[in-house]
Amino acid sequence: MRPVIITANWKMNTTPADAGPLAADIAKATDVANVTRIICPPFTNIAAVSAAVEGSGTLVGAQNVHAESKGAYTGEVSADMLKRLVSWCIIGHSERRRDQLESDELVGHKIVRLTEVGISPMMCCGEQLDEREAGKAVETVQAQVKATLETVLAAGMNLPSDLVIAYEPVWAIGTGRTATGADAAEMAAGIRATVADVAGAEYAESVPVLYGGSVTADSFGEFIAEPSIDGALIGGAGLKPDQMTGIAALAAEAAAARANA
Ligand code: PGA
Repeated sequence: MRPVIITANWKMNTTPADAGPLAADIAKATDVANVTRIICPPFTNIAAVSAAVEGSGTLVGAQNVHAESKGAYTGEVSADMLKRLVSWCIIGHSERRRDQLESDELVGHKIVRLTEVGISPMMCCGEQLDEREAGKAVETVQAQVKATLETVLAAGMNLPSDLVIAYEPVWAIGTGRTATGADAAEMAAGIRATVADVAGAEYAESVPVLYGGSVTADSFGEFIAEPSIDGALIGGAGLKPDQMTGIAALAAEAAAARANA
C-alpha cells in the first residue's frame, strides 16, 4: 500500500530565526497517525527546522539539489552536502523550470544524485495553461515523466523505490485556482501508465502521486478522495499551521480508510 504524504514547500520564505518556531507549530498541528509529513524549508533554515521537529515524526526535505556530485558550481548545493541533513528533496519544481530553465533530463540527473546518497526524490511535473486548454495536459506531463525516468535508466541506475511524483499544474500554483479531483486522478493514471511503460506496472503502482497547486484545508479533500492521489505538495498553506491542521486531518482519515479497504 502506498503511503499518504503531505509536504510543505516553504519556497523562499522564513529566516533561520523564525523557521524553527513555525516548524514546531506545524509539527504539532500535523501530529496525526500513518501520514508521512515533510517540511521543506530553504537550505539556510534546514538546521533550525530539524532541531525544532526532532522527535515529532516530521521529516525534513530540501527544495533542490545540484545535478553534479561536486565541483566548480559556485553557490550550488550537492547531494553529499544534504546527506544526513534531509531525508527528502523536491526536484524539478516548475518555478525552477521557469527561472533556472531546468529540463527533464537535468531533473533525471538529480534523481541519480539523490539516490546515490539515499535521499528520497520528490519529482515535480505539470502542464502550462495553454497546454491544458489545447487538450495536451496528459501528454505533456507524460513526456516530462518519460524523459526524466529514462535519463535515470540511461545513467545505469534502477528507478529508486522511494520515488514520489508530484503533479502540479503550473497554472494552479500560487493562483488560488486548483485542478479538479477528477483532472488530478486522470493525470495520476496517465503518469502511472508512463511509469509502467518505462519500469513496469508493479513499480508504477508503488509510486505515490501527489497533487500540488493552491492546496488548502478546503480543497485538499477533493484530491485525497481520489484513490490514485496519495497526498499533496503544499506551498502557501504550508506556512500556515491552521491550514496544515485541516490538511493533516484529511490525510489521516484517508490513510485510515485506505488501510481498512
Ligand atoms: P501553492 O504552491 O500551494 O502555493 O500553489 C504549491 C507548490 O508550488 O508546490
